[in-house]
Amino acid sequence: CGIVGYVGHRQALDVVLGGLRRLEYRGYDSAGVAVLDGAGALRVRRKAGRLANLEAQLDADGRQSFAGTAGMGHTRWATHGPPVDRNSHPHQDASRAVAVVHNGIIENFAELRAEIEADGIELASDTDTETAAHLIANAYATGETAGDLEASVRAVCRRLEGAFTLVVTHADVPDKVIAARRSSPLVVGVGEGEHFVASDVAAFIEHTRDAVELGQDQVVVITREGYEVTDFMGEPAQGKPFTVDWDLSAAEKGGHDYFMLKEIEEQPDALANTLRGHFHNGRITLDEQRLADQDLRDIDKVFVVACGSAYHSGLVAKYAIEHWCRLPVEVELASEFRYRDPVLDRDTLVVAVSQSGETMDTLEAVRHAREQKARVLAVCNTNGAQIPRESDAVLYTHAGPEIGVASTKAFLAQIAANYLVGLALAQARGTKYPDEVAREFADLASTPAAVRKTLATTEQVRALGRDIADSKAVLFLGRHVGYPVALEGALKLKELAYMHAEGFAAGELKHGPIALIEQDLPVVVVMPSPKGRAVLHSKLVSNISEIQARGARTIVIAEEGDDAVRPYADSLIEIPATSTLLQPLVATVPLQVLAAEIARSRGYDIDKPRNLAKSVTVE
Ligand code: G6P
Repeated sequence: CGIVGYVGHRQALDVVLGGLRRLEYRGYDSAGVAVLDGAGALRVRRKAGRLANLEAQLDADGRQSFAGTAGMGHTRWATHGPPVDRNSHPHQDASRAVAVVHNGIIENFAELRAEIEADGIELASDTDTETAAHLIANAYATGETAGDLEASVRAVCRRLEGAFTLVVTHADVPDKVIAARRSSPLVVGVGEGEHFVASDVAAFIEHTRDAVELGQDQVVVITREGYEVTDFMGEPAQGKPFTVDWDLSAAEKGGHDYFMLKEIEEQPDALANTLRGHFHNGRITLDEQRLADQDLRDIDKVFVVACGSAYHSGLVAKYAIEHWCRLPVEVELASEFRYRDPVLDRDTLVVAVSQSGETMDTLEAVRHAREQKARVLAVCNTNGAQIPRESDAVLYTHAGPEIGVASTKAFLAQIAANYLVGLALAQARGTKYPDEVAREFADLASTPAAVRKTLATTEQVRALGRDIADSKAVLFLGRHVGYPVALEGALKLKELAYMHAEGFAAGELKHGPIALIEQDLPVVVVMPSPKGRAVLHSKLVSNISEIQARGARTIVIAEEGDDAVRPYADSLIEIPATSTLLQPLVATVPLQVLAAEIARSRGYDIDKPRNLAKSVTVE
């Protein structure tokens, strides 16, 4: 979910809606706002569906009735209760004095609900959030914290279990917005005569680039003049100030119809920026290096844990890290990792890959790994997010903000960053000579140009996408690093076009999936370079001929000049030649374009696919 709060000199409704627009990628099942009018009234409006529905409702109500310079808003990805008006945030207490927006899950909500109901209060929604509104109203009305909103929020936070960011307003406290966080993201924006709280800096980047990152279990009170941070006990605490290193234009579509299309185009820069500065004086360097070379030398096993596309980046990296470092690498879905009792100790390196740095499954995997004394290195695209904060070291991908829900440029940047981790390990462990490390890095540094070249030829891919847009299903095949590319291609198509798509290891086809092949079924094949591993190439040629013989329509992604594969390709998409390990960086690009074009032909919003959200902050 996306959260924003504001106190300042502008109309809060405008600022909050502007912020929500930029946070909509975090969830778009419903949206809502609350505005304090400064004279003791709190106006709330919420609506199921996209933000546009809420805006239409506000227009119908008359926006002037939402005048006021303090307020907050929410855009939801539904967890508890279906996405209907009554489950939309803000939630309120029975007297409607308090309004609360929330991101995360309050795990002990059933117990809290029962307690509230025992007091004779009937809850108005199915959400866990509403319990917080009643508890805060109650704490403010009576007892030790009566009349003190900050203290009331803190007292309630101490009782909540789970992960949450809460933003709270009270009709009696017209000039303050209070926010609290545990495990879910929250940043403060510092302006002149105005302050912001939000899940993500994108919400206020239009107004200020000065931000403050909050720590775990902290509460912040923002007013027009300033902000004050305490812990849940009320002890003064300090946030960590930082300046956002990108500007508004990075968070805008810049002439493209969709963010995703812009982000696909930005991939050469995402790669170049991620690699920049990591090879210095003949050596690979990581960021915030809190792992000494000796630690890296002692590593005897690597786990990569991640979700979604980030997981696929790990599958790609396994091939490189094992090859370069002679270390066993396991790649695991973060949601499975900690429940499996993996074998971890202080000589295990866990690489946690996450664009957002806030995916709850991955965060919990990190916590589990650290409890077991493993060393954790985060690969993350978001400065100061929770996963890097809780890790021993971090390597930032510099893909810039990714707004399209389906990952594109962040995925390529993750592969590059994972490769840097592999080279850093090889360097520390001496499994590669310095000149070999230098050569591998130079190779990696040539990929932005190769991706740029690939992007120049996507018209053919788009035409193909339109052509197969009505297919029932599409299969993707690859071998070696082409296998995770096939998985990523299939995931993109599922996410964007709601089409059945599956990726397979080409060699596994004959063990079952070949039964799926029928006349004209499109099958996308990622061909390895004929020059790299000749044996892989010839095996894959055999696999294609098997499926072609059974009527499949073959769409082959192959290196320029790969003539051997031509007879088997009903459509041939050429990509620049690279070394085997780097091919995923170019081969993924046509698959992104294909999925986006199929989805567009089918009439879907490719930035906001149904049922999805970009950062999933619940387990
Ligand atoms: C969500 C997104 C995916 C993304 C995954 C992991 O499910 O829809 O596109 O790959 O989360 O996100 P992360 O921020 O951890 O990389």
